[in-house]
Amino acid sequence: MTVDPPAVPERRLIRHADVRSVLADPRFLVPAAPAARPGTGMAWLRGAVSRFSNGAEHGRRRARVTGMLGALDPVRLRREAFERTGAELAGGARVDVMARIARRVPVGVLATRLGVPEDRREEVVAAVTAMAAAYHLPPASGAAPAGDAGDAAVGVLAVALGDGEEPEPGLLAAVAGALIQACDATAGLVGNTLVAVARLPAGWSAGWSARWPVEALLAETLRWDPPVRLTRRVAAEDAAAGGVRVPAGAVLLLDLAAANRDPDVFPDPDRFDPGRFLPGSFDPGGGGPLSFGSGIRPCPGERAALALAAGVVEAALAHRLAGPPNPHNQVPYKQIPHEQVPYEPSPNLRVPAHLYLEGTATTEGPR
Ligand code: HEM
Repeated sequence: MTVDPPAVPERRLIRHADVRSVLADPRFLVPAAPAARPGTGMAWLRGAVSRFSNGAEHGRRRARVTGMLGALDPVRLRREAFERTGAELAGGARVDVMARIARRVPVGVLATRLGVPEDRREEVVAAVTAMAAAYHLPPASGAAPAGDAGDAAVGVLAVALGDGEEPEPGLLAAVAGALIQACDATAGLVGNTLVAVARLPAGWSAGWSARWPVEALLAETLRWDPPVRLTRRVAAEDAAAGGVRVPAGAVLLLDLAAANRDPDVFPDPDRFDPGRFLPGSFDPGGGGPLSFGSGIRPCPGERAALALAAGVVEAALAHRLAGPPNPHNQVPYKQIPHEQVPYEPSPNLRVPAHLYLEGTATTEGPR
């Protein structure tokens, strides 16, 4: 079988100013998903969420999501994430934080706050994880990936939200869209932060909290090692970006991770330094990191993501990061080169595949 190359090759933008200006320019659209018949699983969901829509339709859908997320109390999200993470780790046995906590806790806390009954939390977390794996359209092909598991999962969430009735489709799309977007990205933020702390100079890992608040640690991890690396835009008409002409229909690959290391905005950009984000240190004149997007459609879940990740990370860092289970070679993570941390296979996400925590907690609770 031969595959036709895309009619217009993708152009990659890496400069902070270029990426930021495309994200603010209404001539560049997200690749849209077609509307599908109600109740048909992932194809319907993609056609109904804000993420894959443009223009006035996007505005309406996005307003619903921002209203829903704006009603959440970040202090409560953080406390619940902290307590649930602590409960998972109580006892001190070795736990794979990526498998047991990094998705389960944030998605579970968010789901219950968005109306999922407590006794359906675990099945909804599993459903959201399955939907997230089948959510994004494959670039260039335009076709939806096969996803029976994802289709069934939409049904699981619908039952949980509807409580015996069919949920209103707009509500189902808004809740599903938010939980799916939260799932892998927040897990990546949690995992990448734990890896970054494990690699701090000797003596700093244990004492990180005396140097920086967890907010600064998360902010620098988001800049230096963002969980969402790339996003795409399609030119709706002839335009220009990064100093070159972009014909209508051309696809731009916006490299958020590269833009976050642009030396024009971030001095000494390859250095991991949470001190950049201490109150009063950072001058966001250049626009700040692009990890949550920017412009017309930045991530509406930023506040929730930061609260949930802060709760999980603070509870997790009270435990020891340990090397993978291997009876012959108990290597602490610190001694494993960065390249050897296993990551989940993904073209645009950076999520550690496994990270092990052990030992009893050494701190009491969120400050
Ligand atoms: C660390 C965690 C997260 C990161 C790094 C992240 C990043 C992003 C980015 C970069 C976009 C914009 C994509 C684009 O412009 O093409 C986005 C969109 C979105 N995010 Fe997040 N996100 C995170 C967590 C969350 C959470 C917790 C929620 C919900 C509670 C959420 C909900 C959404 C939604 C609904 C959109 C689509 C918005 C639209 O297109 O109008 N995200 N996210």
